Amino acid sequence: MTTLADDKLPCTFVIFGATGNLASNKLLPALYHLEAAARLSESLNIVAFSRRDWDTARWREHVREVLAERIKGRTDDAVFERFLARFVYLQGDLNDVASYEGLATRLQHGGVACSSTVFYLAIKPAEFAAVVQNLETVGLNKPRGLNRIVVEKPFGEDIESAHMLNQLLHQHFDEEQIFRIDHFLGKETVQNLLVFRFANTLIEPLWNRNFIDHVQITVAESIGIEKRAEYYDRAGALRDMLQNHLMQLLTVVAMEPPPALEADALRDEKVKVLRSIRPVAKRAVHAHAIRGQYARGSIDGEPVVGYAQEAGVERNSVTETYVAAKFYIDNWRWRGVPFYLRTGKRLAKQTSMIAIRFRHPPQQLFRETPLESVAPNWVLLSIQPEESMRMEIHVKQPGLDMDTRVMQMNASFVKTDEQTLDAYETLLLDVIEGDRTLFIRFDEVEWAWRVVDPILKHWAVEREYIPTYPAGSWGPADANRLFDSDDQAWRNEL
Ligand code: BG6
Repeated sequence: MTTLADDKLPCTFVIFGATGNLASNKLLPALYHLEAAARLSESLNIVAFSRRDWDTARWREHVREVLAERIKGRTDDAVFERFLARFVYLQGDLNDVASYEGLATRLQHGGVACSSTVFYLAIKPAEFAAVVQNLETVGLNKPRGLNRIVVEKPFGEDIESAHMLNQLLHQHFDEEQIFRIDHFLGKETVQNLLVFRFANTLIEPLWNRNFIDHVQITVAESIGIEKRAEYYDRAGALRDMLQNHLMQLLTVVAMEPPPALEADALRDEKVKVLRSIRPVAKRAVHAHAIRGQYARGSIDGEPVVGYAQEAGVERNSVTETYVAAKFYIDNWRWRGVPFYLRTGKRLAKQTSMIAIRFRHPPQQLFRETPLESVAPNWVLLSIQPEESMRMEIHVKQPGLDMDTRVMQMNASFVKTDEQTLDAYETLLLDVIEGDRTLFIRFDEVEWAWRVVDPILKHWAVEREYIPTYPAGSWGPADANRLFDSDDQAWRNEL
């Protein structure tokens, strides 16, 4: 992994959309954690750019409120004050060049000799183009190669728009300046998956079609769309989660060992997986993908409204808040092994996991015992809320009969005295240090769009009706029809 020398580290971090959801939920807590871990260089300033008519004092008040709500455990006063002191608030309009002139002046007169700046687009995709063009107009895309721009997913809303966005970025920035972020790659378990697969000789020989029956990737959320109707109603679960986060998880599960743990080596392997996914034929979309929208229901015993009743959502919206899909990877390792992916909002609980089900043993030796058939082995990698790995294996039950029972071997990745961090800490540090290993290359984005494109196109014309599921359930029952065989079923619990 390549990182920059200290004197090349950026000294300003600009957050566009500083008062938005992403900044509050993810960026501010992550930056604070980096401060607490003494990983931010002393000279780093953070410019919070937003439309609200605030000044720096009001902004700092906001940071206090946000962190009070989101940082668990005690915050250290000295660390907190040091963190707040880094911020400057800049009121501006993303579409107005004058605001960028103000930003440029601020950056020039920041006080310290500044080698470079990070621009973080924590804004709606529809606003990316204006920001990129305006940065160029005032010359903030330079120095080329040093100033960086961080682009959040979804990268475009289909293949065509992704290409246009990429072209636009490349007109004004070099590829080394562009950091396409998918924060799932920063999650501890996802990185651990690389270690689990490639540092354990025990695992790798089993990781293929000869032993694995199918793979399930679930990212279930109990939250609704919060205050993001404007964005979400255009995006839907397929664009918001499956095309990026779940596809990335799939590539990490399925990829071949890279020649080195370097940005391009890793990304080459991920692209090979995406290229090997069998395209879903137009007429087969129904058999490969299920969508649904949450109706009213209850979460943790509290009643919640349906998606169509959420503020800002059209009452007759057919945007999906749930998607389940089946893909095949047509290569030597995975041919014939279905990968089932699903994600949804307002599901029964907040849980993300990768569940690998192994094949039945070739000989049913224990058929004559009370146990009719032996349940298959599972490897379960839990991403959140807990970060752990479980293996389900059979052992003999003590006693006179030849009964078996399933035992779970649990390995928590985190020791009790270790603090777990969100994915953004790692990724923000990587942006600052210039390490692109965990960021997405455009061909990954492009191939991932190709995979989901037939589904998007099909749903785009079926606009009259969308099945619903009660909030607090596991999604539409219809999702069970994706399975290739009767002995496959969604795994909801670890
Ligand atoms: C974001 C999606 O990328 O990921 C959200 O836009 C989703 O809709 C979020 O809630 C989930 O990420 P995490 O890290 O909070 O599980």
